[in-house]
Amino acid sequence: MQIVQTIAQLRAELKTMRAGGKTVGFVPTMGYLHDGHLSLVQKARQENDIVVVSVFVNPTQFGPNEDLDAYPRDAERDLSLLRAGGTDIAFFPAVDELYPPGFTTYITVEGPMTQTLCGRSRPTHFRGVATVVSKLFNMVGPDRAYFGQKDAQQVAVIEQMVRDLNFDIEIVACPTVREPDGLAMSSRNTYLSQTHRAQAPLISQALFGARDLVEKGERHSAVVVDYLKTNIQRIDGAEIDYVSIADSRSLSDLDILKGDVLIAVAVKLGRTRLIDNIRIKV
Ligand code: PAF
Repeated sequence: MQIVQTIAQLRAELKTMRAGGKTVGFVPTMGYLHDGHLSLVQKARQENDIVVVSVFVNPTQFGPNEDLDAYPRDAERDLSLLRAGGTDIAFFPAVDELYPPGFTTYITVEGPMTQTLCGRSRPTHFRGVATVVSKLFNMVGPDRAYFGQKDAQQVAVIEQMVRDLNFDIEIVACPTVREPDGLAMSSRNTYLSQTHRAQAPLISQALFGARDLVEKGERHSAVVVDYLKTNIQRIDGAEIDYVSIADSRSLSDLDILKGDVLIAVAVKLGRTRLIDNIRIKV
């Protein structure tokens, strides 16, 4: 595995490695890797000749009062996991490498897609995500890029950006990986106190209960939202940020469940904000 820190090194390594038309799979991450990330690396490994993983805690996707400084980091551990996972190039750029002094260009996916769900409480988040992902796409030039379905809104925003800006890249959304008790894996789970960690799986249980309702025939969003709110409010100390039922691709609200439906929630447990979702074809 090559470990590179500069864009010039990355480009030089890739030029040699991809000679003869080899395909490149790319997994962008913010590090502190868990099995969710490793499932993306594994999928990229299966589908491409070369696997590139970036580890970069992107400052532009954090709001002023968010957890940029506290965000967990462990480069040594990440490197050994990436090596074991069959990564060819691990890209660990410094902040100045991606955002040198004088940087002023941002990518904004306009409209409701970035203003609903997480966009309501994190108004500049998706601008930061779209900017860094498009920069990384330009540096790596992958054939395929891999993202976790846990961040369903991020997937929808990146797919929109790829269509609108004509990136010739296939976006591969991979299933959410869960702990044995159902909690969706996230680097931020490390913030949970013991008490909140014990309660956190109740969020995915509420989502699975909502899926059962739909599978039994319920089609009214209001009923499903009500079920979710009632169950999440029962969790001691839980504060609901949103409960949403929307079309998976456009993220527009649905009154009646129909098509490819995203049922998504964001809940604060103590100082930890957890997101989770399920997708159902109705
Ligand atoms: O999902 C993440 O970890 C980040 O949002 C991403 C895609 C690596 C961009 O910084």
